[in-house]
Amino acid sequence: MKTLRLITATFLVCAPSFAQKDAKDIYLDQCAVCHGPDGAAKTARGRKLKMKSVHEVAPTMSAAEMIKITEAGKGQDMAGYAKELSKDQIKAVVEYYRALAK
Ligand code: HEC
Repeated sequence: MKTLRLITATFLVCAPSFAQKDAKDIYLDQCAVCHGPDGAAKTARGRKLKMKSVHEVAPTMSAAEMIKITEAGKGQDMAGYAKELSKDQIKAVVEYYRALAK
């Protein structure tokens, strides 16, 4: 019973931020290896692929363009995520990525 109460409490506390949390988890799981946890792309791969920081990119690119790139991939170095992630997940993770520039 105690465990159940704990789970319920945790759920109630976390429920409003579920969408945000999902996006963060997806980003950290799937994108941060290259784009970096802070979006600055200061990772081994980011340097190797000469990737730009989100601070540089976000002002020049719309969310819609970023969603397209995330779905389809870019060049040889970034694979598309249309198969792995739902449209909502891609939208949320792009929003999360863009928010790192703020
Ligand atoms: C294997 C490394 C790698 C992974 C993993 C990766 N990307 Fe990328 N991403 C790149 C490269 C390389 C570019 C192209 C940079 C360029 O063309 O200047 C890029 C470009 C982008 C762009 C275009 C704007 C920009 O920042 O240059 C977006 C948006 C983007 N990625 C989102 C994502 C998201 C969201 C994920 C996770 C679901 C992800 N990427 C995972 C390597 C990666």
